[in-house]
Amino acid sequence: MANKWFETVAVAQRRAEKRLPKSVYGAIIGGAEKGLSLNGNLTSFDQLGLAPHVAGLQAERSMNTSVFGLDISMPVIISPTGVQAVHPEGEVAVARAATNRGIPMGLSSFGSRSMEDVAAVNSQLLFQMYWSGGRDVMVQRLERAKAAGAKGIILTLDWTFSNGRDWGSPWIPEKLDLKTMIKLSPQALSKPKWLLAYLKTGKLPDLSAPNMAHPGQKPPAFFGAYYEWMTMPPPSWEDIAWLRSQWDGPFVVKGVCRVDDAKRVRDLGATGLSVSNHGGNNLDGTPSPIRVLPAIVAAVGNDIDVVLDGGIRRGSDVVKAVAMGAKAVMIGRAYLWGLAANGQAGVENVLDILHGGIDSCLLGLGKSHISELTPDDVIAPRDFFVTLGDK
Ligand SMILES: Cc1cc2nc3c(=O)[nH]c(=O)nc-3n(C[C@H](O)[C@H](O)[C@H](O)COP(=O)(O)O)c2cc1C
Repeated sequence: MANKWFETVAVAQRRAEKRLPKSVYGAIIGGAEKGLSLNGNLTSFDQLGLAPHVAGLQAERSMNTSVFGLDISMPVIISPTGVQAVHPEGEVAVARAATNRGIPMGLSSFGSRSMEDVAAVNSQLLFQMYWSGGRDVMVQRLERAKAAGAKGIILTLDWTFSNGRDWGSPWIPEKLDLKTMIKLSPQALSKPKWLLAYLKTGKLPDLSAPNMAHPGQKPPAFFGAYYEWMTMPPPSWEDIAWLRSQWDGPFVVKGVCRVDDAKRVRDLGATGLSVSNHGGNNLDGTPSPIRVLPAIVAAVGNDIDVVLDGGIRRGSDVVKAVAMGAKAVMIGRAYLWGLAANGQAGVENVLDILHGGIDSCLLGLGKSHISELTPDDVIAPRDFFVTLGDK
């Protein structure tokens, strides 16, 4: 049997592309409009360098830390992704891998597996919600998450429902009935390994959203759930403060890129925030998170946990973010590619790549613990970092 281990996230991406039907791979790549933010998230890390030492290095290094009240083995968190049909075990495989490597699992409202199934294999579940369905429905979701064992809530606020792409969006069917299967069959048959993995389970990809189900009802179809969300008026800061008051554990706001918003998130009592532009999937032209991170850390980092989300592909990216003040990073596509390439073992492979890369950087930078990193370890071009919303 071919060796399924891969040495970098880029290799995992190539394997995912080879293995997945075109529309599923296209859905993971995502991006918006011209892809400015999607590409910017990556090229921003390329523009940052590291300032290494050559002697006096540390023989023993560690990277355990805590974030959002959770003890974690390295400063990496699984970011929630609502994407179906990558692998039959879906989020359960990701959650197992996260457990085995000692990191928390963010589960999307639009995930293909239920919060109960995921919480059963990961004791550090962070359930992600959108402002959707009305106050009663959101309270029911919080209660369900609590009962399932979720440790925290991630509220994602950066979505504006614009998702056209210059390179074309994949067609996503409403449900997989016979008619759609016939339409999709050329794509599926051209990817026999992917298809076989599903056939072995006796099930086809499930395009429902079990975490968006209303009590006593069947899980809605993906697009039905999306419609519920789309038709909800956007929340005010008072609405967010109300939602926070309904949850007595860690509460994280995802999608912040401005200092004024970060201060509001802190003031309404959140535990933390993620500096994020939704992986470049939302408003094109929003800045890459690493460029706005230091200003946000300077404004609220002593009060709440600030994490960075977007563009992480290597351990050195994690190190750059932590050196610039992030408590941890969140990853999206990197683990999805690992999942596509080799299921749970592929996600573990990605996490091991990040762990190994962080460790190499700590060695080269002369650190014994991740907390010793400082901005002096990073070389940045003039005017690289920007401050938004701080008059
Ligand atoms: C295919 C895909 C689906 C996503 N779905 C969600 C989602 O349901 N909820 C959410 O908060 N973020 C979602 N995101 C954004 C990720 O949580 C994360 O912010 C982003 O992937 C980080 O960028 P990276 O992929 O470069 O690591 C999604 C991202 C991708 C690529």
